Amino acid sequence: MWNFFTKKNNVKDSNQLIDMNNIPKHIGIIMDGNGRWAKEKKLPRSMGHKAGVETIREIVKECNRIGVKYLTLYAFSTENWKRPTEEVNALMKLLVEYLSKEIDELHRNNVIVNSIGDINKLPQICIDKLNGAYNKTKNNDGLILNLALNYGGRDEILRGMKLLYKDVQRGKIKIENIDENIFSRYLYTNGIPDPDLIIRPSGEQRLSNFLIWQCAYSEFWYSNIKWPDFKIKHLHKAIYDYQNRDRRFGGVKSEQ
Ligand code: IPE
Ligand code: IPE
Ligand code: MG
Repeated sequence: MWNFFTKKNNVKDSNQLIDMNNIPKHIGIIMDGNGRWAKEKKLPRSMGHKAGVETIREIVKECNRIGVKYLTLYAFSTENWKRPTEEVNALMKLLVEYLSKEIDELHRNNVIVNSIGDINKLPQICIDKLNGAYNKTKNNDGLILNLALNYGGRDEILRGMKLLYKDVQRGKIKIENIDENIFSRYLYTNGIPDPDLIIRPSGEQRLSNFLIWQCAYSEFWYSNIKWPDFKIKHLHKAIYDYQNRDRRFGGVKSEQ
């Protein structure tokens, strides 16, 4: 079996193995391992986050090139506020820098820069940058990049439930008509299809509160590689593996 991870392997080879007619429509990535990557190199954790931004650049570009329609990047969870202030500040600063430096190229490449999560609790400069990026790119028709910021799946479900409750109170919706489709409209991901593939590097095998409602039938792909070391060939390998899975959604295959 051809090995994706040999030294000889290059991106052109791994690219040839993926089926361009079966690219996942929505990929979610839990960008993990920045801190451990930095620790291994005896660097401060913030350097790991900085290196992680380079990976974001490459992966966004490649997803756009191969025709992924939605890419959701878990960048800051509702639980990440527990980290030391210094680290939280470094992450917010990197977000502002990323948006400032990349927005023109993202726009040129037709990417829409969207965010999910309770962004109003971020520093004002982050809110302004995110709104600016969205307003500039909202009419593009390429990849939709969802940055999950101050995002938590449980928080999202509670928020959705409260909004739905208000609409029930106002008489806009009848309680007996509430179904999965209607409830989904009250989530941050309203209008976005459920993720087909969730990638988590760094060795951890958990969701950490990422898209918990939306992941009901997503395919999961884990790897020990840390996010700053995650390359295009790893993305290709994840897509290749995804394409060789059998998604049944609770049913049976037609020939069985
Ligand atoms: C992921 O890397 C980035 C964020 C959570 C923002 P980590 O900072 O969690 O890295 P590890 O898990 O400590 O290695
Ligand atoms: C999940 O990673 C959050 C992001 C990648 C933004 P964490 O590093 O915060 O998750 P745990 O603590 O290992 O579960
Ligand atoms: Mg982590």
